Amino acid sequence: MAGEEIFLTTKLWVQDYGYESTQQAFYRSLERLQTDYLDLYLIHQPYFDIHGSWWAMEDLYREGVIKAIGVSNFSSAQLADLITFNRIAPRVNQVETHPFCQQWRAADFMQQHHIAIEDWAPFAEGKNDFFTQPLLATLAERYPKSVAQIILRWLLQRNVVVIPKSVNPQRIAENFTVFDFSLTEQDMATIATLELGKPLIANHADPERIAFIVTRCSAT
Ligand SMILES: NC(=O)c1ccc[n+]([C@@H]2O[C@H](COP(=O)([O-])OP(=O)(O)OC[C@H]3O[C@@H](n4cnc5c(N)ncnc54)[C@H](OP(=O)(O)O)[C@@H]3O)[C@@H](O)[C@H]2O)c1
Repeated sequence: MAGEEIFLTTKLWVQDYGYESTQQAFYRSLERLQTDYLDLYLIHQPYFDIHGSWWAMEDLYREGVIKAIGVSNFSSAQLADLITFNRIAPRVNQVETHPFCQQWRAADFMQQHHIAIEDWAPFAEGKNDFFTQPLLATLAERYPKSVAQIILRWLLQRNVVVIPKSVNPQRIAENFTVFDFSLTEQDMATIATLELGKPLIANHADPERIAFIVTRCSAT
């Protein structure tokens, strides 16, 4: 199924961590997706046996059934741990990134280590009145673009890989129409003032997060 026009990514969930479980989970995903390879496979959460999983993913990468391997929700320290004690470094770290949680320091660390920063929740999942936020609405009116387009452009100009989610065909088209304008440096800096200094949706440094993740596993 995967082809030149589709970049196919999936993630490994916590209950399948560890060398053998990861291999099994990977092949189950191939079966469900009706494909014989993945473009990108990510460790979804930065807890439990991430090294065992990473070794399995390194082997699958060497066999050629995954084109790139990466992680999601890893802090810089967790990335350093993975890089230091393994042979292959992650190519991608997918993290919550939007105007209220901008990830500048994390992005700098990833850039130094040639890890692409991939965003999740570019629109903060609509939280904090994202789509009507006054500063963003003013910029949107001026360009003229939608708030969603302003933020996708802001992320692209920061070299952040962006994966907006929409089930609405019109919005999907809108979200692609971001290559016909550029934000000025000054407007980029204005958006930087919206930073709140902490995640809005999922704080992976919070011990409570681990308890929550366990509730999302059918077996551990
Ligand atoms: N790695 C992780 O731990 C993690 C966690 C959460 C999410 N993700 C992934 O990140 C991706 C995106 O994140 P997300 O879905 O959480 O949040 P998001 O992209 O910030 O927000 C999605 C919401 O925005 C709406 N939307 C999309 N385009 C719009 C537009 N142009 N104008 C107005 N509303 C618009 C969507 O509604 P409609 O669908 O009705 O258009 C949806 O309700 C998803 O693929 C998700 O799987 C990863």
